[in-house]
Amino acid sequence: MPAAPFQFDASSAYYDEAKSLIAGAVNSNVRLAGAPFPLCFDHAEGAHLFDIDGNRYIDYALGMGPGILGHAPRQVCDAVAKTLSQGQMFAGQHRAELDLARLLNRHIPSAEMVRVGMTGSEAVQAALRLSRAHTGRTKFVKFEGHYHGWFDNVLVSYAPDTAKPGETLPLPRAPKLESQGQLPSVCDDIIVLPWNDAAALEEVLESHGQEIAAVITEPALCNTGAIAPRPGYLEQMRDLTTRHGIVLIFDEVITGFRLGVGGAQQRFGVTPDLSTFAKAMAGGFPVAALVGKRDLMEQFGTGAVNHSGTYNANVPSIVASIATIEALAADGGAALSSAESTGEALMSGLRDLAASVGINLKVQGYGTCFNTFFADTDAVHDYQSYRLTDLDRQQAFLAALVARGVRPTSRGTWFVSTAHGDTDVAETLTIAKEALASLTS
Ligand SMILES: Cc1ncc(COP(=O)(O)O)c(C=O)c1O
Repeated sequence: MPAAPFQFDASSAYYDEAKSLIAGAVNSNVRLAGAPFPLCFDHAEGAHLFDIDGNRYIDYALGMGPGILGHAPRQVCDAVAKTLSQGQMFAGQHRAELDLARLLNRHIPSAEMVRVGMTGSEAVQAALRLSRAHTGRTKFVKFEGHYHGWFDNVLVSYAPDTAKPGETLPLPRAPKLESQGQLPSVCDDIIVLPWNDAAALEEVLESHGQEIAAVITEPALCNTGAIAPRPGYLEQMRDLTTRHGIVLIFDEVITGFRLGVGGAQQRFGVTPDLSTFAKAMAGGFPVAALVGKRDLMEQFGTGAVNHSGTYNANVPSIVASIATIEALAADGGAALSSAESTGEALMSGLRDLAASVGINLKVQGYGTCFNTFFADTDAVHDYQSYRLTDLDRQQAFLAALVARGVRPTSRGTWFVSTAHGDTDVAETLTIAKEALASLTS
C-alpha cells in the first residue's frame, strides 16, 4: 500500500502564528522555499527528522549540509557536553584551538595556517579581504550560479537571467544584484563569468588580470545542481591564476569534509591559495574556517588585515569540529567512504527507477551530495544548462517526496550522511517511485 501523503496541521498553525512575529516565519531566507510551506520540526536523530505533526522524514537536507554524521551524532554531542560546564568563551585562547588547527593542517592540502570563525559568509569575506591586501588589487571573479554567502559584495549573479533562445550572453556577464538594498557599487569590483569554461576565464584574465585580486569558485558547483568541474578545468584555473598573480580561493563550504576529508581540493588534486570551510566541519554546530598559504594568512597575524569575531573559536564549536573531523578521518576516512557508497547506491537506484518508468529524471553529482532534476539531456555542466532543465517538475517531485517522508533540499540537492543506511535507501526508493508516479497520474 502506498503511504498516505502527510498532514501538516500543526506546522500550518505554527506557520500562521509565526508569520505575525518572525519575518516570513523563518530566520533565514533560504527557508522561505520549504515545501509544502516552511515546516516546523520537533527533533532529529541520525538520518531522520520529525516535524511537530509527528511526520518522520528520511532527511537529505541535513541542515543544508552540516549533518555529515547525521543528526545529533553521539560522539560530537558527548564531546561538547563534556565541556559545557567549563565555559564557552574566554576572550582568549584555549588548547583545543591548536588541536583543531593541527587537524585542519594535516588533512587539507592548502592549510598551512588557519583562522576559525562562525559562518561561511564571514570566512568568504575574510578570504576576499586578504586577497585584496595581498595583491593591492580590488576586483574579483565569481561565477554564475555560485553562492558565497548573503553579504552585499558576493550576493551577485547567484540566479541571473538565462539566455533567451539564440541569444549570446556577453563576456564578462552583466552582474546581477540578488537583493533589494544591496549597494550597486559592488558591481564595479566583480567580474562574473560562466563556470566550467576555461577559455572564458583565460580571455578575461588576459585582458583584466592586473586588476584582479582573486578568483573565487566552488570547486564542484553544489549551489546550482551538483556539477563536477570538467577534466582539467580546475588545473587550468590554477595555472591561469598563478600566471597572473591572482589569489585562487576554493569555497569549500559545501564540498569540505563531504567530497573528501581534505575537501574537493584533495579529491581533485588541485591546491588553491585560500579555502573556506563550514557546514560539515562541525557536524551541526556553527563554525567556519579560512585556511591557506602562510604568506597570505600571516597578514592577519601582523594585524595588517583585520579578521575578528566575538564568537570565533568558542569552545563548543571547536570541540564539535575536532570530534567531527576525527570521526570522518578515522581508519583512512572509512566513515566518509561508506556514506559515499550509500549515496551512490541511492543515485543508481533513482536512475534505475527513472529508466523503469520512462521518466527523464537525471541524477548528477557525488554520493554525499547529488542533485535530481528533469531534462532530456545529460549535458548539464554549468548554471545556464541547469536552468534550462524542467525546474517546475523538479519542485513538484520534491513536494511529492516531502509529502511522503523523504526530504531533499528545496533546490533538489540530496546530502547523504554516515547515518544513512541500506534500509533508508530502500525506503527512499519506494517513496521516490510513488512520488514519480504521482507526477504522471
Ligand atoms: C559555497 C557556500 N559558500 C558560502 C556559504 C555561506 O555560508 P553561511 O550560510 O554559513 O554563511 C554557503 C552557504 O550555503 C555556501 O554554500
